[in-house]
Amino acid sequence: MTGARSKIAARNTRPEDFSAIIDMSRQIYPMARPWTAEQLASHLRVFPEGQFVAVESVSQRVVGMAASLMVLWDDYDLKASWRDFTDHGMFTNHDPERGRTLYGADVMVPPSRQQRGIGTKLYEARRGLAERLGLLRIRSGARLRGYHRYVHQMSAEDYVIKVVNEELSDPTLSFQLKRGFRVLAVVPDYLRHDLESLGFAAVIEWINEAVAKPEDYAWRDPRFGKP
Ligand SMILES: CC(C)(COP(=O)(O)OP(=O)(O)OC[C@H]1O[C@@H](n2cnc3c(N)ncnc32)[C@H](O)[C@@H]1OP(=O)(O)O)[C@@H](O)C(=O)NCCC(=O)NCCS
Repeated sequence: MTGARSKIAARNTRPEDFSAIIDMSRQIYPMARPWTAEQLASHLRVFPEGQFVAVESVSQRVVGMAASLMVLWDDYDLKASWRDFTDHGMFTNHDPERGRTLYGADVMVPPSRQQRGIGTKLYEARRGLAERLGLLRIRSGARLRGYHRYVHQMSAEDYVIKVVNEELSDPTLSFQLKRGFRVLAVVPDYLRHDLESLGFAAVIEWINEAVAKPEDYAWRDPRFGKP
Protein backbone atom coordinates (compact mmCIF):
# COMPACT_ATOMS: atom_id res chain seq x y z
CA MET A 1 0.00 0.00 0.00
CA THR A 2 1.41 3.38 -0.97
CA GLY A 3 0.17 6.95 -1.34
CA ALA A 4 -2.70 8.54 0.56
CA ARG A 5 -3.69 5.42 2.53
CA SER A 6 -0.21 4.38 3.63
CA LYS A 7 0.75 5.42 7.16
CA ILE A 8 3.52 7.96 7.48
CA ALA A 9 5.91 8.18 10.41
CA ALA A 10 8.71 10.64 11.13
CA ARG A 11 12.02 9.25 12.35
CA ASN A 12 15.61 10.45 12.54
CA THR A 13 17.51 10.51 9.25
CA ARG A 14 19.97 7.71 8.42
CA PRO A 15 22.73 7.60 5.79
CA GLU A 16 20.64 5.29 3.61
CA ASP A 17 18.08 8.12 3.25
CA PHE A 18 20.55 10.51 1.61
CA SER A 19 19.88 9.60 -2.01
CA ALA A 20 16.10 10.07 -1.56
CA ILE A 21 16.68 13.45 0.13
CA ILE A 22 19.00 14.56 -2.67
CA ASP A 23 16.44 13.53 -5.32
CA MET A 24 13.73 15.42 -3.44
CA SER A 25 15.78 18.59 -3.27
CA ARG A 26 16.48 18.37 -7.04
CA GLN A 27 12.75 18.19 -7.67
CA ILE A 28 11.76 20.96 -5.28
CA TYR A 29 14.59 23.44 -5.88
CA PRO A 30 15.52 22.86 -9.56
CA MET A 31 17.44 26.14 -9.78
CA ALA A 32 19.53 25.58 -6.66
CA ARG A 33 22.39 23.26 -5.77
CA PRO A 34 20.76 20.13 -4.28
CA TRP A 35 21.75 18.81 -0.86
CA THR A 36 24.98 16.83 -1.09
CA ALA A 37 25.86 13.60 0.71
CA GLU A 38 28.71 15.50 2.35
CA GLN A 39 26.33 18.10 3.83
CA LEU A 40 23.81 15.47 4.97
CA ALA A 41 26.57 13.41 6.61
CA SER A 42 27.77 16.53 8.39
CA HIS A 43 24.24 17.09 9.79
CA LEU A 44 24.25 13.57 11.23
CA ARG A 45 27.71 14.08 12.71
CA VAL A 46 26.89 17.33 14.50
CA PHE A 47 23.21 16.89 15.44
CA PRO A 48 21.62 13.52 14.53
CA GLU A 49 18.54 14.15 16.74
CA GLY A 50 17.77 17.28 14.71
CA GLN A 51 17.38 15.51 11.35
CA PHE A 52 14.08 13.91 10.40
CA VAL A 53 12.62 12.08 7.46
CA ALA A 54 8.99 11.08 6.88
CA VAL A 55 8.68 7.47 5.76
CA GLU A 56 5.76 5.50 4.32
CA SER A 57 5.25 2.53 6.64
CA VAL A 58 4.72 -0.21 4.07
CA SER A 59 7.07 0.81 1.25
CA GLN A 60 9.64 2.44 3.60
CA ARG A 61 9.87 5.18 1.00
CA VAL A 62 11.18 8.58 2.15
CA VAL A 63 8.49 11.18 1.43
CA GLY A 64 9.73 14.22 3.32
CA MET A 65 12.56 15.68 5.35
CA ALA A 66 13.20 18.37 7.96
CA ALA A 67 16.71 19.49 8.89
CA SER A 68 17.54 21.63 11.95
CA LEU A 69 20.39 22.87 14.10
CA MET A 70 20.74 24.79 17.37
CA VAL A 71 22.02 28.36 17.36
CA LEU A 72 22.56 31.20 19.79
CA TRP A 73 20.40 33.76 18.04
CA ASP A 74 22.46 36.74 19.18
CA ASP A 75 25.42 35.45 17.14
CA TYR A 76 23.52 36.30 13.93
CA ASP A 77 22.14 39.35 12.24
CA LEU A 78 18.37 39.21 11.71
CA LYS A 79 19.11 39.73 8.01
CA ALA A 80 21.61 36.88 7.81
CA SER A 81 21.11 34.57 4.85
CA TRP A 82 20.36 30.84 4.82
CA ARG A 83 24.07 30.24 4.13
CA ASP A 84 25.08 32.13 7.26
CA PHE A 85 22.57 30.38 9.50
CA THR A 86 23.62 26.94 8.21
CA ASP A 87 27.34 27.45 7.59
CA HIS A 88 26.89 26.85 3.86
CA GLY A 89 24.56 23.95 4.54
CA MET A 90 27.08 22.05 6.71
CA PHE A 91 25.54 22.89 10.15
CA THR A 92 29.06 23.09 11.62
CA ASN A 93 27.87 26.22 13.45
CA HIS A 94 25.51 23.97 15.51
CA ASP A 95 25.94 25.21 19.09
CA PRO A 96 24.39 22.86 21.66
CA GLU A 97 26.26 24.54 24.55
CA ARG A 98 24.87 28.03 24.11
CA GLY A 99 22.03 27.68 21.58
CA ARG A 100 18.44 28.07 22.79
CA THR A 101 16.94 28.38 19.30
CA LEU A 102 16.22 25.44 17.03
CA TYR A 103 16.84 26.75 13.53
CA GLY A 104 14.72 25.15 10.81
CA ALA A 105 17.08 24.88 7.84
CA ASP A 106 14.81 22.98 5.48
CA VAL A 107 11.54 21.13 5.23
CA MET A 108 10.41 19.45 2.03
CA VAL A 109 7.68 17.14 0.84
CA PRO A 110 7.69 16.18 -2.87
CA PRO A 111 4.85 17.79 -4.85
CA SER A 112 3.19 14.40 -5.52
CA ARG A 113 2.88 13.81 -1.74
CA GLN A 114 1.90 17.28 -0.54
CA GLN A 115 -1.46 18.07 1.13
CA ARG A 116 -1.61 14.73 2.95
CA GLY A 117 -0.36 15.77 6.37
CA ILE A 118 3.32 14.86 5.89
CA GLY A 119 4.63 18.41 6.40
CA THR A 120 2.53 18.70 9.56
CA LYS A 121 4.03 15.48 10.88
CA LEU A 122 7.55 16.77 10.28
CA TYR A 123 6.69 20.03 12.05
CA GLU A 124 5.32 18.07 15.01
CA ALA A 125 8.54 16.05 15.19
CA ARG A 126 10.57 19.25 15.19
CA ARG A 127 8.41 20.86 17.85
CA GLY A 128 8.63 17.72 20.01
CA LEU A 129 12.42 17.93 19.79
CA ALA A 130 12.44 21.60 20.85
CA GLU A 131 10.21 20.71 23.82
CA ARG A 132 12.32 17.71 24.85
CA LEU A 133 15.49 19.81 24.74
CA GLY A 134 13.77 22.62 26.68
CA LEU A 135 14.59 25.12 23.92
CA LEU A 136 13.06 28.56 23.94
CA ARG A 137 11.87 28.55 20.35
CA ILE A 138 12.08 27.44 16.75
CA ARG A 139 13.01 30.06 14.20
CA SER A 140 13.42 29.83 10.46
CA GLY A 141 13.43 31.78 7.23
CA ALA A 142 10.17 31.11 5.39
CA ARG A 143 10.87 31.70 1.73
CA LEU A 144 7.99 33.68 0.24
CA ARG A 145 7.18 31.24 -2.52
CA GLY A 146 4.22 33.14 -3.93
CA TYR A 147 5.80 36.59 -3.92
CA HIS A 148 6.98 36.47 -7.57
CA ARG A 149 3.31 36.80 -8.60
CA TYR A 150 2.91 40.08 -6.69
CA VAL A 151 6.33 41.70 -6.99
CA HIS A 152 5.02 44.36 -9.41
CA GLN A 153 2.10 45.22 -7.15
CA MET A 154 3.50 45.44 -3.64
CA SER A 155 6.56 45.26 -1.41
CA ALA A 156 7.49 41.95 0.22
CA GLU A 157 6.46 43.40 3.62
CA ASP A 158 2.99 44.32 2.32
CA TYR A 159 2.71 40.86 0.78
CA VAL A 160 3.47 39.26 4.16
CA ILE A 161 0.96 41.50 5.95
CA LYS A 162 -1.70 40.35 3.47
CA VAL A 163 -0.75 36.70 4.01
CA VAL A 164 -0.91 37.18 7.80
CA ASN A 165 -4.36 38.79 7.42
CA GLU A 166 -5.42 35.90 5.13
CA GLU A 167 -6.14 38.27 2.22
CA LEU A 168 -3.52 36.30 0.23
CA SER A 169 -2.28 32.75 0.61
CA ASP A 170 1.38 31.78 0.25
CA PRO A 171 2.22 28.10 -0.36
CA THR A 172 4.84 28.06 2.40
CA LEU A 173 4.13 30.89 4.83
CA SER A 174 0.37 30.21 5.14
CA PHE A 175 1.20 26.60 6.06
CA GLN A 176 3.66 27.74 8.74
CA LEU A 177 1.31 30.36 10.22
CA LYS A 178 -1.34 27.65 10.65
CA ARG A 179 1.20 25.58 12.53
CA GLY A 180 1.67 28.16 15.30
CA PHE A 181 4.44 30.29 13.78
CA ARG A 182 4.36 34.07 13.59
CA VAL A 183 6.34 36.54 11.56
CA LEU A 184 9.10 38.62 13.18
CA ALA A 185 10.50 40.39 10.11
CA VAL A 186 10.81 40.29 6.33
CA VAL A 187 14.32 40.06 4.90
CA PRO A 188 15.84 40.21 1.37
CA ASP A 189 18.67 38.03 0.01
CA TYR A 190 17.82 35.01 2.15
CA LEU A 191 17.93 32.45 -0.67
CA ARG A 192 19.55 34.43 -3.44
CA HIS A 193 18.81 32.19 -6.43
CA ASP A 194 15.22 31.36 -5.54
CA LEU A 195 13.06 32.47 -8.48
CA GLU A 196 9.80 32.02 -6.57
CA SER A 197 10.61 34.12 -3.49
CA LEU A 198 13.07 36.36 -5.38
CA GLY A 199 15.26 35.95 -2.31
CA PHE A 200 12.71 37.30 0.17
CA ALA A 201 11.89 35.43 3.36
CA ALA A 202 9.83 35.98 6.48
CA VAL A 203 11.75 35.32 9.69
CA ILE A 204 9.29 33.16 11.61
CA GLU A 205 9.09 31.92 15.19
CA TRP A 206 7.28 29.32 17.24
CA ILE A 207 7.80 30.04 20.91
CA ASN A 208 7.92 27.38 23.61
CA GLU A 209 5.45 28.79 26.10
CA ALA A 210 6.58 26.29 28.73
CA VAL A 211 9.93 28.10 29.09
CA ALA A 212 9.43 31.58 27.57
CA LYS A 213 9.57 34.67 29.78
CA PRO A 214 7.73 37.95 29.02
CA GLU A 215 10.90 39.50 27.54
CA ASP A 216 11.13 36.65 25.02
CA TYR A 217 8.05 38.05 23.27
CA ALA A 218 9.64 41.49 22.85
CA TRP A 219 10.30 40.97 19.15
CA ARG A 220 6.64 40.86 18.24
CA ASP A 221 5.68 43.43 15.64
CA PRO A 222 1.89 44.09 15.61
CA ARG A 223 1.92 44.54 11.80
CA PHE A 224 2.50 40.79 11.54
CA GLY A 225 -0.31 39.68 13.87
CA LYS A 226 -1.60 40.25 17.37
CA PRO A 227 1.28 40.64 19.87
C1 LIG B 1 5.59 23.52 2.95
C2 LIG B 1 5.46 22.00 2.78
C3 LIG B 1 6.58 21.31 3.54
C4 LIG B 1 4.11 21.53 3.36
O1 LIG B 1 4.06 20.12 3.28
P1 LIG B 1 2.70 19.29 3.12
O2 LIG B 1 3.03 17.86 3.30
O3 LIG B 1 1.97 19.67 1.89
O4 LIG B 1 1.89 19.80 4.41
P2 LIG B 1 0.52 19.19 4.98
O5 LIG B 1 -0.08 18.21 4.04
O6 LIG B 1 0.77 18.74 6.37
O7 LIG B 1 -0.35 20.50 5.06
C5 LIG B 1 -0.69 21.23 3.88
C6 LIG B 1 -2.21 21.42 3.83
O8 LIG B 1 -2.84 20.22 3.45
C7 LIG B 1 -3.89 19.95 4.37
N1 LIG B 1 -4.04 18.49 4.49
C8 LIG B 1 -3.36 17.65 5.27
N2 LIG B 1 -3.81 16.39 5.09
C9 LIG B 1 -4.77 16.46 4.15
C10 LIG B 1 -5.58 15.50 3.52
N3 LIG B 1 -5.50 14.21 3.83
N4 LIG B 1 -6.46 15.93 2.58
C11 LIG B 1 -6.54 17.22 2.26
N5 LIG B 1 -5.78 18.19 2.83
C12 LIG B 1 -4.91 17.80 3.74
C13 LIG B 1 -3.40 20.55 5.66
O9 LIG B 1 -4.48 20.79 6.57
C14 LIG B 1 -2.76 21.81 5.18
O10 LIG B 1 -3.69 22.85 4.97
P3 LIG B 1 -3.74 24.07 6.02
O11 LIG B 1 -2.35 24.67 6.05
O12 LIG B 1 -4.76 24.96 5.38
O13 LIG B 1 -4.13 23.48 7.33
C15 LIG B 1 5.47 21.61 1.29
O14 LIG B 1 4.52 22.38 0.61
C16 LIG B 1 6.83 21.78 0.59
O15 LIG B 1 7.70 20.92 0.63
N6 LIG B 1 7.03 22.90 -0.10
C17 LIG B 1 8.25 23.14 -0.92
C18 LIG B 1 9.49 23.32 -0.09
C19 LIG B 1 9.43 24.56 0.76
O16 LIG B 1 9.12 25.64 0.31
N7 LIG B 1 9.76 24.37 2.03
C20 LIG B 1 9.76 25.44 3.00
C21 LIG B 1 11.09 26.11 3.03
S1 LIG B 1 10.98 27.61 3.98
